[in-house]
Amino acid sequence: MAGRWTNTLTRADVTPERLYLNRRQIIAGLAAGAAFGGGTQARAQEALEPNSWEEITSYNNYYEFGTGKDDPARLAGQLTTEPWSIEIDGLVERPGTYALSDILPQMTLEERIYRFRCVEAWSMVVPWQGFELADLLDLAGVAPEASHVAFETLLRPEEMPGVARPVLDWPYVEGLRLDEARHPLTLMATGIYNRPIPNQNGAPIRLVVPWKYGFKSIKSVVRITLTDSEPPTSWNKANAREYGFYSNVNPEVDHPRWSQATEREIGGGLFSKRKPTLMFNGYEEEVASLYAGMDLTENF
Ligand code: MTE
Repeated sequence: MAGRWTNTLTRADVTPERLYLNRRQIIAGLAAGAAFGGGTQARAQEALEPNSWEEITSYNNYYEFGTGKDDPARLAGQLTTEPWSIEIDGLVERPGTYALSDILPQMTLEERIYRFRCVEAWSMVVPWQGFELADLLDLAGVAPEASHVAFETLLRPEEMPGVARPVLDWPYVEGLRLDEARHPLTLMATGIYNRPIPNQNGAPIRLVVPWKYGFKSIKSVVRITLTDSEPPTSWNKANAREYGFYSNVNPEVDHPRWSQATEREIGGGLFSKRKPTLMFNGYEEEVASLYAGMDLTENF
């Protein structure tokens, strides 16, 4: 257990749902500030209103089920998600097959309400349930030489009709630097809106990195490999000019085909006003120091 902070609030603190949700967000913000900023003044984050269940589960990118935004909701139901295990290998002290049913009882599950920003300029606010990736890494014991973490999605053609087409180099892979992976905001999510995560959103377990574009948040993870060099990532392999390794939400760096300076909220209506995108998706205070001294136009 990372054991970075203790939640001192009790159920008696929880009154109306709206206040409850906002309060949880403030706790998440305090935790991140305290754990990462080490002595820096923690700040109360602005309140976030989550999007609806419909909005979050019926408009997805999960290319293993097709490239249409409604394909995953239509086709992912056939995916078998139980039993499930994650292979943890590479530069770890205890490599092996970790059954999800064994992992979960050892993890501190909590709710995190995060902004979520996809590259095509839509954004939403999602209440995830999960545990910190750092805790899972500690379970396997990261070797001192490790510098990066590679992730891989299940590849099961008989249940994933989209992989019949070479739109991406299957299996879907992603990667983080070890310090990004260990950051307290980085979550392995197993639930959403207090329900098990639906297949189209990456059941039974997916990554959530709230300061990066949504495509870094790899779904249905079956392998985590600790490495000593930057691992390949699916979108970078598909189009290196458009998708870099870092993929931080950065309104100052345009995607070659569109501006990333503003965003439109899912559920805000077709004519909803675009609003300015925040640096690191609003998590600048928590994560900017990870990139101190780096040129973020080079490392996009
Ligand atoms: N993971 C896998 N395995 N396959 C995918 O196609 N799409 C990514 C990411 N994770 C994807 C994936 C993209 S482009 C986005 S925007 C998010 O998942 C979408 O997550 P959501 O459906 O929960 O909104």
